[in-house]
Amino acid sequence: MALWPLLLITLGIWILIRKWPLLRLGTSLPGPWAFPLLGNAQMVGKLRPEFIFLVFTELRDRFGATYRLWLGPQLWVFLHSAEETRQALHDPTLRKAETFFQLQPLIGNGLLLSHGAHWTRQRRLLTPAFQPQLLRSFAPAIAGHVDRLVKRLEETKGAPLEVTDPIFACLLDAIVDTSMGAQLDTQLVDHSPIINAFHLSSKLLFKRMINPLLASDWIFQRTQLWRDLNEQLQVIHTLMESVIEKRAKQLEMLEEKGETPGKAHNLLDTLLLARFEGQPLSRKEIRDEVNTFVFAGVDTTTAAMSFVLYALAKYPETQSRLREELQGLSVDGSSDLDTLNELPYLEAVIKEVLRMYTIVPTTGRQTTQSTKIGGRTYCAGVTLWINMYGLAHDKLYYPDPYAFKPERWLEDGGSAPPAFSYIPFSGGPHVCIGRRYSLLLMKLLTARLVLAFDLDLSSEQAPLKLQAQMVLKAQQGIHVSFLKR
Ligand code: HEM
Repeated sequence: MALWPLLLITLGIWILIRKWPLLRLGTSLPGPWAFPLLGNAQMVGKLRPEFIFLVFTELRDRFGATYRLWLGPQLWVFLHSAEETRQALHDPTLRKAETFFQLQPLIGNGLLLSHGAHWTRQRRLLTPAFQPQLLRSFAPAIAGHVDRLVKRLEETKGAPLEVTDPIFACLLDAIVDTSMGAQLDTQLVDHSPIINAFHLSSKLLFKRMINPLLASDWIFQRTQLWRDLNEQLQVIHTLMESVIEKRAKQLEMLEEKGETPGKAHNLLDTLLLARFEGQPLSRKEIRDEVNTFVFAGVDTTTAAMSFVLYALAKYPETQSRLREELQGLSVDGSSDLDTLNELPYLEAVIKEVLRMYTIVPTTGRQTTQSTKIGGRTYCAGVTLWINMYGLAHDKLYYPDPYAFKPERWLEDGGSAPPAFSYIPFSGGPHVCIGRRYSLLLMKLLTARLVLAFDLDLSSEQAPLKLQAQMVLKAQQGIHVSFLKR
């Protein structure tokens, strides 16, 4: 009997010794009062997506640039300066934050989550699939999908339309076509099951990520959320596996005919043709990468494009000035992408949208060993949150940060902001591999839509309430009218 208290005290002392560096670091950092054992988990668990920015900004104002939260035994530290961000993003000892690994049922060990030697190998393998020459060859295919979107928008005859869903369908079709050579044709159906599966699985995964009570796999796998998620994942995995299998068979047939494609043409071919020590990638490895690209590419570019349309409709002077710059440009797929890349106002508008509406508002890293960032030593086991939204709205770096001013990115727009204050695509070795690809998609779409339509804000469009979900979203959607020119 008398042994139990002794065991408990010994266990307590053992935990204290093991967690001592973390506890010491946590207590040295400012932050809101934390309950014993629970920490601030209760506060974070109750946080609604539409209040995340408000709460983080308020905490920053109260506790300064670097503050902490405790999620039970986990220590979260929020970094806010451009210099700390630069150091964190270049630190090779950091891994992706633990929370992101909850995405594994969808994207497995794909590029977004992998690390170490596996990540280096995959990043080297996949980088050529995003080279400018290859991207250039995508333009006609993308233009075909944009044509379908234009037709769909023409049919609205100027009536207000929530733009996110049609843009998602257009971009999903375009990205799967150009990176995997498959035609999903989701734009041609009203309620595509695959779009539904992507939306729902993303929503369910995010629901889990912001609920500390569901962090344990053991608990999560006993919830209805897990069963619902699995149902949607089944739809995605079945489709992607059939796309992979079909292309693998085509490549095999080419090989049998002695027509082996010497050069990989897109992402999927690159993955199917790769050999490491004579061995091909497993189907699961290929599926993980393919799902990673769809997951990381479609929702982000859709959100960015929706905010571009919103900003152009909201600021008619910006829309007119952009249209003037675009006059005479052919945007039917034969357009010269180098010309599109040399249009300074188009570039400035997209840059300002990505600043103002930071599509990926935060990213997280996990310390794996003792490391120094911003002059402070962090022990292993700390989650560092990089606040890209906060950096892009810091008046220290951007005068009048909540005003939409594409001019700030033009040559005569004032002094350039410091490096690592503007990182919509992150930075360092893990910088977004698809950034050029998404800029190409956005430029082609913006140019085509601005030349085809006058964009107007619908009267249904209330002032935007931003919401941090998997990517930044407008709580009530984005409603724009497209009036044929
Ligand atoms: C406006 C559109 C986009 C935005 C704002 C965006 C943003 C980002 C950010 C912030 C990261 C870094 C995440 C981190 O470090 O934790 C990232 C990584 C990544 N992105 Fe994007 N992205 C966009 C479009 C795309 C597209 C079109 C693709 C592919 C088709 C893509 C594929 C990836 C991949 C695979 C990674 C992981 C890279 C690595 O860790 O090596 N993204 N993206």
